[in-house]
Amino acid sequence: MSHFDDKARAWDVNPVFRDRANQIAAAIAAEVPLHTGMAVLDYGCGTGLLSFPLRDRLGTMTLADSSAGMLEVLAEKIAAEGDAHMHACRLDLMTDPVPAQRYDLIYTSMTLHHVPDTEHILRTFYDLLLPGGYLCIADLDQEDGSFHGIEYDLHHGFDRTTLGALAHAAGFAETRFRTVFEIVKDRAEGPRAYPVFLMTACRA
Ligand SMILES: C[S@@+](CC[C@H](N)C(=O)[O-])C[C@H]1O[C@@H](n2cnc3c(N)ncnc32)[C@H](O)[C@@H]1O
Repeated sequence: MSHFDDKARAWDVNPVFRDRANQIAAAIAAEVPLHTGMAVLDYGCGTGLLSFPLRDRLGTMTLADSSAGMLEVLAEKIAAEGDAHMHACRLDLMTDPVPAQRYDLIYTSMTLHHVPDTEHILRTFYDLLLPGGYLCIADLDQEDGSFHGIEYDLHHGFDRTTLGALAHAAGFAETRFRTVFEIVKDRAEGPRAYPVFLMTACRA
């Protein structure tokens, strides 16, 4: 059982996760001209907190995650809503073959820092987008490792300039960044804020 399998049942109870997803959804809606004809991939969707607020403005939605626990909760939520245009699917783009489907919009929230190879995932996102398609990445700004603590040794957030350059190298023509949320954690020295950015990029 993965860390996220374990967390899935209680995920939506956390008001910070709900608030964060709503703020990111609002920022995506401000950055991208959404419409109901858009085919969308929510990568690392968790329980779908980001996709539910956007669903009335989008077309077919593929909600993908590597965690069986997250997907189980998500499938129950989709079934409860009777939503025929949202589909839960198990996918890890680090190890699985790239799906045949192409998308008008890919978004991913708080997942990129869990993916070891950033260059690889950016190139894969590029390949999965249709020409003119959008990529939106919400994640932590670079931090000192205190966000997750010592048991975590992957990415400690991202430097915006470096991530923008990697997106450019993957083929994206234009990248924009904005701050969309702050996660505040209590530390021994007092409360500490960890900003979350939204990067929007377009495939020419
Ligand atoms: C911090 S949670 C964010 C969940 C959701 N996007 C949200 O904002 O509430 C990160 C999610 O990424 C998923 N994840 C981590 N590595 C992944 C990978 N390689 N492929 C697909 N999903 C992954 C985890 O299972 C988890 O659901």
